[in-house]
Amino acid sequence: MQIEATNIAEQKSINGADFPLVLSAAPGSECTQSNFLAWINENQREIRDLMVKHGAILFRGFPVDGAEAFEAVLDAAEFVNMPYVGGAAPREQVTKGRILTANESPPDQPIPFHHEMAQVPNPPAYVFFYCDIAPATGGETAIVHSHRVYERFVAANPEFAAKIEALGVKYIRVMPEQDDATSPIGRSWRSTFLTDERAGAEEKMRSLGTKWRWQDDGTLYTETAVVPAIRTEPRSGMKTFFNSVVAAYTGWTDSRNDPKKAVVCGDDSPVDGEAVIQTGAAMAEECVAFRWQEGDVLLVDNSLVMHSRRPYEGPRRILASIATG
Ligand SMILES: [Fe+2]
Repeated sequence: MQIEATNIAEQKSINGADFPLVLSAAPGSECTQSNFLAWINENQREIRDLMVKHGAILFRGFPVDGAEAFEAVLDAAEFVNMPYVGGAAPREQVTKGRILTANESPPDQPIPFHHEMAQVPNPPAYVFFYCDIAPATGGETAIVHSHRVYERFVAANPEFAAKIEALGVKYIRVMPEQDDATSPIGRSWRSTFLTDERAGAEEKMRSLGTKWRWQDDGTLYTETAVVPAIRTEPRSGMKTFFNSVVAAYTGWTDSRNDPKKAVVCGDDSPVDGEAVIQTGAAMAEECVAFRWQEGDVLLVDNSLVMHSRRPYEGPRRILASIATG
């Protein structure tokens, strides 16, 4: 089958390339599920190269009908599944394999821009989304190129940028004992670490370099290892704003957590709140928020691109998956 680059109204040009790259079947091309899966399988190397060049690829108009079909696309590309351990969001497993629901936090609250699991030492290389039920209003999974964010951050805040590039950052989060669906960071320690035993959670935290404290009310205070705030993406050589600083500082709020304390510099000094908020505003200016269409598959290079979720009303079902390579 023939697949070609096409355009959508919301697209931008980043570093001279379409962002995101949008691929659709060429007119007259026989677009069956098996043809599409065969194309994905044959072009798996090129797909990865295109993700470096463009940061993200949107496959639109292909016969991808439901969670199993989405999973078949990821399998055809031979993406290496990564279990979702250490992330903050409430989710549900959808297929036995690799598909989960996207963050199910309350629809009226935005989820700020982030690299998936930027707070752990080895975040996924890729994050994938699929639109099963398109929301009637809002609910876009907006994306922003992290190199562009880095450029804006450094230009506006050269001193603070140099500081966190040198020192890295740490994230502080109090996890509930049971999943709390009312919070965007409501994942319990049980589902964060995929265990019901405190000892099992402790073993995972030790391996992640996380410090912890069990609290009297059953919640778990966690402080991550120092992780980089700025990274250089090795294939492109681009520096990226690879962190959860804005997300944590502006969004990690619930009955257990104060967002102003959710992120600190690597030396425990506070972050520059004004610079953080300004960088969040730059992300909003630089992002692409396209309307979901059912069957859309979005492949995001998690090293280069951040994603977010806008508030929405009515039913919406976006599925997600992550991969190490
Ligand atoms: Fe995410």
